[in-house]
Amino acid sequence: MIHYKSKEEIELMRKSALLVSATLETVAGALKPGMSTLEVDDLIDQFIRDNGAIPSFKDYRGYPKSSCISVNEEVVHGIPNAYVLQDGDIVSVDVGVFLNGFHGDSAYTFAIGEVKEEVLKLMAATKAALYKGIEKALVGNRIGDIAFAIQQYAEKERGYGVVRELVGHGLGKHLHEDPQVPNYGKRGSGPMMKEGLVIAIEPMINMGTREVAYMDDGWTVATRDEQPSAHFEHTVAVKKGQADLLSSFTGIEKAEKANSALNTNY
Ligand code: MF3
Ligand code: CO
Repeated sequence: MIHYKSKEEIELMRKSALLVSATLETVAGALKPGMSTLEVDDLIDQFIRDNGAIPSFKDYRGYPKSSCISVNEEVVHGIPNAYVLQDGDIVSVDVGVFLNGFHGDSAYTFAIGEVKEEVLKLMAATKAALYKGIEKALVGNRIGDIAFAIQQYAEKERGYGVVRELVGHGLGKHLHEDPQVPNYGKRGSGPMMKEGLVIAIEPMINMGTREVAYMDDGWTVATRDEQPSAHFEHTVAVKKGQADLLSSFTGIEKAEKANSALNTNY
């Protein structure tokens, strides 16, 4: 069942989503080689709680940490651990917060130092694929229109692998609500979008094949061919004419450019 949100509820969700964006902006300012992903998670947990919110992922279906941090060939749901970030890594940071009764959810992939040109291209294309999907998040369109736009761009135009096993989703009082929002599919298929629908659109794009494997920790999803994968996610309210982005990359991109440990040549 889809839960449609009132205008007031969407404004509350904007606050949740913008707190996620502010959290990712803090991460963008702090990331550097030598930092463990656990340290990044501690920073995220602290920032969210300092702002009066609760990390959505902590204890979600037994998930042990406050963020998902997925490095290089890891696609999503990497559990923060003792791994120390190195020059040349790409790191996808996925954050959710619960504030005033509503969840926000957003993810961003960062490049640490000297990252290969082809990997930077993958990151840029994944972000572009997200925006291709967002363009279709309009009242009267169908979920399949978003899915098709992402797949068409990432697979057909760019030749990357689009992950099938994990999808975007509705969100609101719950982190995951109907409908599912796949990153692949047929134009004109799936539920029709109406005013009040809020969804997380989150393409996971692999440099090589689309195949993924689950790691022994029960959470981490990685590419089967061990080539890199990127992940960008926005919380989006469906509107007539133009989608309303509740989360924002503006501050993150600014902080990313100001951080000399990060590569922004993409
Ligand atoms: N943003 C991701 C999602 O929507 C991460 C949540 S999974 C969790 O699926 F279990 F870690 F919470
Ligand atoms: Co999500």
